[in-house]
Amino acid sequence: MMHHFYIKDNRLYAENFPVEELAKEYGTPLYIYSKNQILKNYREINQPLVNSRLDFLNCYAIKANSNPEILKILSEEGAGAEIASGGELYLALKFGYLRNKITYTGVGKTDEEIKYALKENIFNFTVESLQEIKVISGIAHSMSLIARISIRVNPDINANTHPYITTGMKENKFGIDSKEILNVFAEANKLPSIDIIGIHSHIGSQITEVEPYIEAVEYIEGLLKKLESMGINIRYINFGGGFGVRYKNMLRHRYISIEEDENESYAEPGDYVQAVIKLLSGYEKKIVIEPGRSLVANAGILAGKVLYTKQGETKKFIITDTGMNDLMRPCLYNAYHQVIPLELKDTGYETADVVGPVCETADFLATGRKLQKLERGDMFAVMTAGAYGYSLSSNYNARLRPAEVLVDGDKVQLIREREKVEELHY
Ligand code: LLP
Repeated sequence: MMHHFYIKDNRLYAENFPVEELAKEYGTPLYIYSKNQILKNYREINQPLVNSRLDFLNCYAIKANSNPEILKILSEEGAGAEIASGGELYLALKFGYLRNKITYTGVGKTDEEIKYALKENIFNFTVESLQEIKVISGIAHSMSLIARISIRVNPDINANTHPYITTGMKENKFGIDSKEILNVFAEANKLPSIDIIGIHSHIGSQITEVEPYIEAVEYIEGLLKKLESMGINIRYINFGGGFGVRYKNMLRHRYISIEEDENESYAEPGDYVQAVIKLLSGYEKKIVIEPGRSLVANAGILAGKVLYTKQGETKKFIITDTGMNDLMRPCLYNAYHQVIPLELKDTGYETADVVGPVCETADFLATGRKLQKLERGDMFAVMTAGAYGYSLSSNYNARLRPAEVLVDGDKVQLIREREKVEELHY
């Protein structure tokens, strides 16, 4: 099976279920995930590491999707977790991730969060400034503990992705500048309660080619040599996440218009890992990766329903029951997500904006999109919505977060109830 979301007899399926059936039973808006697609994605990325016989940690970046059942699927597969807050640490521990496989990243850790992570004895803190290292050292000292850290470098590499999700360029807030990095290692190495175990480099997200990783690893190789000459011996190399996925033309069908895609080809999830393994195989180092999107994005869709259609003076609008509060990516990054009617029909195409109900002009799911003619009551799916979908959702306009279901072959499980109005914080 190619993909666990597919079209059969002009209907969209999630594993063995017509999506329409799920949307009718659980209502819309509805996030639908495929368990077998998540497993497939994880194994494709993990297998090259297993085959390499290198020591490695594969830490799922749980910010991509932290639904408890999804967290459990990956912890049961043996994944570690990359966390970005005390809240994510709580979730990782609660849903099965081993302490020694939890790595904590982020430019703004509070003292309380640092204490919590030290108390839980997690694998590692990825640190982003000398000031932060000093704070961690002070807190660890007061608890009579040693903090294991990896220092995040900013290698100034252009990952050719959206400016909001590039992280490894000198104008980004992440990591420590190349010019400063050796000095920071030297200073950190003097601190009594710090054990520097690794170097970390996460250069951005939705990277669709292997080259930026090769550049980053080559940069790290240079750094390793310098550190060794300073007597600092690093054990772990963490090259972050960021492996890109396909958003355009996810599914093809004679009634779905083909989009022009500026990317001619996409690296396969395993390719990134393979390339890095090749470069690092001469070193006695352990590899850490932190994939988020590549594990869950194409394993989730957001189903919605058309409420109204309206012809504006210059545009046709398809007004739906889901929008920026459920899926923020189009509004935040002008991100493209394929929109697929749950029942495909030969109506010819019309060009329309698919918009949400929220009182913001930026509340759209798709703009200028060529789609079959949609009418009030028609249902559709927004594809590739499993990563940074629900996790970035909000209650803006006092809207309720959608329900989430997980399909596994011919089983379906409600994994989060639709929010109720009584649950809103006001
Ligand atoms: N490691 C670190 C340190 C990160 O900051 C991130 C993501 C990851 C790993 C996982 O990256 P991934 O494999 O998912 O690309 N909301 C944006 C993406 C933000 C990424 C934040 N950091 C989006 O929807 O495109």
